[in-house]
Amino acid sequence: MPFATSPHVKEEKPGTVAYCTCGESAKAPYCDGSHGRNRSMKRPIIVKIEEAKTVAWCGCGKSGNAPYCDGTHSKG
Ligand code: FES
Repeated sequence: MPFATSPHVKEEKPGTVAYCTCGESAKAPYCDGSHGRNRSMKRPIIVKIEEAKTVAWCGCGKSGNAPYCDGTHSKG
């Protein structure tokens, strides 16, 4: 799945999340291993979620605060 033009807003539970940085995951914003199959040099960012919360994951791949959305997608 190519990068999106808006953030992926998700309800996250405590645990570990692998955020896709290659833009090829079919399960964006989560890594599905596509980076390995596509021989991308990019790797997921591993994020530990301490408590249940809403997260705006970057969908455009250009955030200066990756893996989180910083509004860059709307600065076109
Ligand atoms: S599938 Fe994109 S970083 Fe793993």
